[in-house]
Amino acid sequence: MKPLTIAIDGPSGAGKSTIADIVCQKLNILHLDTGAMYRAVGLCALQLGIDPRDEAAVSLMCQEGKVLVDVKYQDGKQLTLLNGTDVSSLIRTQEVGGAASAVSRYVPVRSMMVKRQQEMAASQPMLLDGRDIGTVVLPDATVKIFLTASAQERARRRMLQLQEKGESASFEEVLAEVNARDLQDTTRELTPLRQAEDAILVDSSNFTFDETVQAILDIVEEKYGKQ
Ligand code: DC
Repeated sequence: MKPLTIAIDGPSGAGKSTIADIVCQKLNILHLDTGAMYRAVGLCALQLGIDPRDEAAVSLMCQEGKVLVDVKYQDGKQLTLLNGTDVSSLIRTQEVGGAASAVSRYVPVRSMMVKRQQEMAASQPMLLDGRDIGTVVLPDATVKIFLTASAQERARRRMLQLQEKGESASFEEVLAEVNARDLQDTTRELTPLRQAEDAILVDSSNFTFDETVQAILDIVEEKYGKQ
């Protein structure tokens, strides 16, 4: 029997990764945050002084084998490696997020990432979160979920995160950023963010964190049986 695969796609800031972490703890399966892999590619470009929007230069960087992204698990927690170095913390900046969004538009980057993600999900039960999991990476996933929230709600949550870190920004600025990222991710030519036809929509705008986790666990149970 094929291992259990759960695909969660959705826009930036919908809480996919944090929600997925808890769902995976409850189900005792591994979580692959695929955005982290694109972030590692974006970081690689920045470190090499390559403009992430320069398609030719980014493609060459991939072809020349200058970017090796891998994932390891330590006590069930994902470590993202770039050329053998753990970059799990370094990739969590706005700058790297922007670079990831830019480099993720290019064929050599996507084919490299998709291949690695498929290899990982073929051998063990896993939950993958990203933008193209249900549509491209795992079109036969056991369970497909499209997790979203309104742009306003995602901006509100982002504001709270920034405040917790002691950073300040106006709501308008944060909302504009959320809208810009949505536009870039949904209008790119190659596998833009979209809901797979057979994915179940979970709109968390009016849900608490726990309610969202429960909604996903209920969907998994309905499709796959109680874990
Ligand atoms: O989820 P995130 O914000 O960490 O992802 C960073 C960028 O990577 C995001 O702007 C879009 C891209 N991405 C992608 O194209 N495909 C995925 N499966 C995951 C992320």
